[in-house]
Amino acid sequence: MNIAIIGSGYVGLVAAAAFAEIGHNVTCVDNDASKVEALNRGETLIHERFLPELLARHRGERLVFTQNIQEAIRSSSVIFIAVGTPSSENGEADLSLVENVACAIARNINSHKIIVEKSTVPVCTSQWICRVMMQNGAPGDMFDVVCNPEFLREGTAVTDFLYPHRIVIGADSTQAADTLRKIYMPLADGSYAKLSKAIPQPDNAIVPTRLIVTSAESAEVIKHASNAFLAMKISFINAVANVCENVGADVEEVCRGIGSDARIGTEFLKPGIGYGGSCFPKDLTAFRSVSCDSGYDFRLLDEVRRINEDQRHRFLRKVRQALWNLRGKRLAVLGLSYKGGTDDIRESPAIAMIHLLLKEGCDIVAYDPAAMERAKEEFPNGEVEFSAYLYDTAVNADAVLILTDWEEFASLDLPRLRKAMKNPIIVDGRNLYRPETMNNSGFTYYSIGRRQRVARRLVQRSNTAA
Ligand code: UGA
Repeated sequence: MNIAIIGSGYVGLVAAAAFAEIGHNVTCVDNDASKVEALNRGETLIHERFLPELLARHRGERLVFTQNIQEAIRSSSVIFIAVGTPSSENGEADLSLVENVACAIARNINSHKIIVEKSTVPVCTSQWICRVMMQNGAPGDMFDVVCNPEFLREGTAVTDFLYPHRIVIGADSTQAADTLRKIYMPLADGSYAKLSKAIPQPDNAIVPTRLIVTSAESAEVIKHASNAFLAMKISFINAVANVCENVGADVEEVCRGIGSDARIGTEFLKPGIGYGGSCFPKDLTAFRSVSCDSGYDFRLLDEVRRINEDQRHRFLRKVRQALWNLRGKRLAVLGLSYKGGTDDIRESPAIAMIHLLLKEGCDIVAYDPAAMERAKEEFPNGEVEFSAYLYDTAVNADAVLILTDWEEFASLDLPRLRKAMKNPIIVDGRNLYRPETMNNSGFTYYSIGRRQRVARRLVQRSNTAA
């Protein structure tokens, strides 16, 4: 099938590469000339596992990148809108880019088109797209609008796309739903997974996957409600972690205990310094605003957000508890991206923490396996020192702060780290270690929802002094 994807951000680029991988001819459009040129030169633009492989396989063959939106619309029967929907000042999603694309489709319509919302949009956007199409001269029988939300996570976006747990198609026309079904058939019938060159399945893959057909409005709510629910789960466990600290319980044990109930599940129960990224904070605000406009005051979502923000301030208090005065203290920060496996720093709790620590007068030296270039733009005036090598970050540090759950931070060479540091203190905002392990390696270890562990060596020293 000939498909156009408008927008080559995280969602658009991954969808374009993956649709080519399952056999479609894809034209991916972006109005940013430098992006299109870079993609045509062979660059990947984002740090995403398996994306370089897919681009190398299909670029210039089944997958082309262009700025020419008119041509892409004319040559495709299905057009996915994957442009950005940033938050506006009042919290609503800014849909002006979606509207611009709808206008462009209407002006260039030359045959029947299925317009698919892939961007995360508020309820009723599909109706708005229909209206804009008709206002711009597109006959009502020449197009259908479908909502096909994505549930990709950055870092695992390619495998999330190729091995989804469900595919949601929100369509009010049976023909449009059938076309979308055909597009996804290699995933829905499991035939893609059987190919010898298929990207390897993740452990928890569901093959063949479930295809859920709903109304457009239901699909729009499914997307917002999914993200809001996951954010709520994270804030819930963070709140439980805070109780655990107060009563001397261990939140990791609690997670094992509650997560083994299949009705609750273990996923998204990792306590930490809060969720971030380009989706949860923005989508929660947008869903709150949509609910309010619909006449329902969804205050639970405010609390989810409040707990999330509070988590950063609690972490700052932990750093203070570890170091007393913060002014002039040298802190080695491990992690800048909003989670491991991505170079994305949008709404990153790690970046927010650094801002708070800089305000307190700390000297920050930071390391991240992928997000350093992006973070340098956030701190352009030398406020933060960036270290090219992980262990150099710790040299002379008063404490190491773990702010992102990168795999490589979970398997640190602890003796080497300790040797480099001025004081063996670790404040772990992601609970990557067992307190006993840290303690036995001579670190004073602070984490989330567990008792603080003072290094035995230090305890002995203070006992001797006493
Ligand atoms: C999220 C959803 O998981 C995807 O299903 C959805 O498609 C996507 O938003 C989107 O709307 O585009 P993503 O933002 O890439 O995906 O990342 P997640 O893995 O969901 O993590 C989000 C944040 O929550 C990160 O800051 C992460 O560190 C944090 N988190 C996640 C926790 O603090 N604890 C957890 O247990 C899980």
